[in-house]
Amino acid sequence: MEAARPTKLAIVGAGAVGTSIAYASLIRGVARTIALLDINTAKVTAEVLDMSHGLEFVPRADVIGSDDVSVCADADVVVFTAGAKQKPGQSRLELAEATIGLTRSILPGVIEAAPRAIYIMVTNPVDIVTYAAQKISGLPPNQVFGSGTVLDSSRLRFLIARHCGVAVQSVHSYIIGEHGDSEIPLWSSASIGGVPLLQWKPLPGRPAMDAVARELIQHEVVHAAYTIIEGKGATNYAIGLASTRIVEAVLNNEHRVLPVSTLATGVDGLGDVCLSLPTVVDRGGAQAQLDIPLSESERAGLVASAETLRGMQARFGL
Ligand code: LAC
Repeated sequence: MEAARPTKLAIVGAGAVGTSIAYASLIRGVARTIALLDINTAKVTAEVLDMSHGLEFVPRADVIGSDDVSVCADADVVVFTAGAKQKPGQSRLELAEATIGLTRSILPGVIEAAPRAIYIMVTNPVDIVTYAAQKISGLPPNQVFGSGTVLDSSRLRFLIARHCGVAVQSVHSYIIGEHGDSEIPLWSSASIGGVPLLQWKPLPGRPAMDAVARELIQHEVVHAAYTIIEGKGATNYAIGLASTRIVEAVLNNEHRVLPVSTLATGVDGLGDVCLSLPTVVDRGGAQAQLDIPLSESERAGLVASAETLRGMQARFGL
């Protein structure tokens, strides 16, 4: 039987997010080769050295890097993190002009080097950048998608778990729509250990999961990045882990349901826009979007989120 071909993960951008994805992928043994591309030669060389010196302690892998796009050659997955940093108080949508321009200038060369790869956009505003990347690349929509609200959903699950006193792995809930200010928590389908959250009875000594608690949690999720950026200048660890989870779903052909950002063609009334809905992710990339039941207010929120994103697309001629 033919041995499986060693897998290659390429990461465009060796900034805080890109290197966090590389580091998390190393520790989890996600790919045999991890390639970093960055225009800053000294930075990418130093990052490769620093990670390579730890190879003894992780599953077998090589870390390579360069300022030349050829370092991405024949990658199975490309994660795109090159972009402008969100400043304190700045919204993700305000980064659109800079990051769409960057995507236009870098992506075609990477696709030429790795035409078969699955492309996972992480650069913000990720929904707009994903839509732009699909237009620029001309690749099938399943092959180019965004990290979307995988991170936001993990923030929601963490806060629900902490409030209710259970393990985060026992909480199932999604944030959908824009990875940004108009995102929507799906309380109607959230559950803990199979118990619908809206019917949750507090464990001894734990507070109720009532409307006030839900409101506070939603506010904390939507403002999480702003809070962290105020304190440390950027977010990187959780987005690094969330992106690595998506890469694993592709490379291991997991058919994992993740709220990634893809063309919302399957949902009537949203129009031509990329946003996050629970989607099956496997070796072919972003596949079927699930038709998750929505309450009236959740559906209204999703339509409003789509309108926000379509407005941004129009502003930049996408
Ligand atoms: C955040 C960035 C990745 O939400 O948008 O932390």
